[in-house]
Amino acid sequence: MKPIEIAKGIYDVGVNDWNISDFHGYSTPYGTSYNAFLIIDDKIALIDTVKAGFIDELFYNISKVVDPKKIDLIVSNHTEMDHSGSLARVMHRIGQDKPVYCSTMGEKNLGLHFRQKLNLQAVKTGQELSLGKRTLTFLETRMVHWPDSMFTYLKEDKILFSSDGFGQHYAGCEKFDDQIGDAIMPHAKKYFANILLLYASLIKKLVQKVTELGLKIDMICPDHGIIWRRDPGKIIDAYLRWSDQETKKKAIVLYDTMWHSTEMMANSIASGISAEGVDVRPMYLRKWHRSDIMTEVLDAKAVVVGSPTLNNNLFPSLADILTYMKGLKPKNKIGAAFGSYGWSGEAVKLIEQELTTMNFELISPGLKVHYVPGDEHLDACYDFGRKIGEAIGKAS
Ligand code: FEO
Repeated sequence: MKPIEIAKGIYDVGVNDWNISDFHGYSTPYGTSYNAFLIIDDKIALIDTVKAGFIDELFYNISKVVDPKKIDLIVSNHTEMDHSGSLARVMHRIGQDKPVYCSTMGEKNLGLHFRQKLNLQAVKTGQELSLGKRTLTFLETRMVHWPDSMFTYLKEDKILFSSDGFGQHYAGCEKFDDQIGDAIMPHAKKYFANILLLYASLIKKLVQKVTELGLKIDMICPDHGIIWRRDPGKIIDAYLRWSDQETKKKAIVLYDTMWHSTEMMANSIASGISAEGVDVRPMYLRKWHRSDIMTEVLDAKAVVVGSPTLNNNLFPSLADILTYMKGLKPKNKIGAAFGSYGWSGEAVKLIEQELTTMNFELISPGLKVHYVPGDEHLDACYDFGRKIGEAIGKAS
């Protein structure tokens, strides 16, 4: 794509990665973008770079606006390689001695990534840098998404360059929220649930800090996906809601199955939950990717988990999703476990241990069925589901 002038003299020179489908374990069927922003002023600044492998497209885009050698400085808002992977080669092309502004942790982390001499200039929250007619203000945003993360605010244009914050893994011909509308929100939600949920409390404080500072924001430019210009408040409000981990009258029943017994149980449990007026979705682990499951977990009140017992243990796909979920620390959940077994039947107990570790409130002792459920067992699963649905209703 050609560069896009997002405001007078300010360009998105980033690139779309249409073909990426797995972003370090996060499914990206819509690809992603590595946004980078060029500000033309008395000094020319490039905010962030792109993933290694996309540098030629970055320079093609920059060259449509200005000779890359005229870039005076780089701002590195985040060290992760999707934004800094081409930094060393960018510096080689524009001039090795030119300054790279980054947070204090960015100075450390860029050093650990590139292990070569870069002119790193550490900045702190509130520090300003004049470009001539415009001023950049830096805001450290630790753990959104790495310790080195920061936002950069362009005062005169009221633009917040927010790095991973408010981003979405989405590659499209649209560049702005007004071009895509609400269709972008599920992508933003998935991004939050899988990348930022662990840091929800810090995000809440960060949004409050931005409000306290009284920053007027006309446009939010994340490093992934579309730019928020029609209604930046919409994504800020969504972040506040997601950070609070507000839940809906909703349950997911996630499970794997070997010979359909646990699947039959899952469907009966879901049917019982639904009978209590709860929005419920069974999610079969060999159909749904862990990152799509986490997106549904974000606003679900209950997470009901089923596994057959395999070799005295959980089915491996359950170990995967429970490990992943535990790392992201979802809160305010009700949980329950179920599964069929042949001889020893440890899986249900192991699921309950995992749910307890995550501070989920267990609604009922786990439900086990020996080999294949009969009608009476499916009735018991339905009643188990009703009990869970009832608890969700009381908690909502
Ligand atoms: Fe888009 Fe944390 O990198």
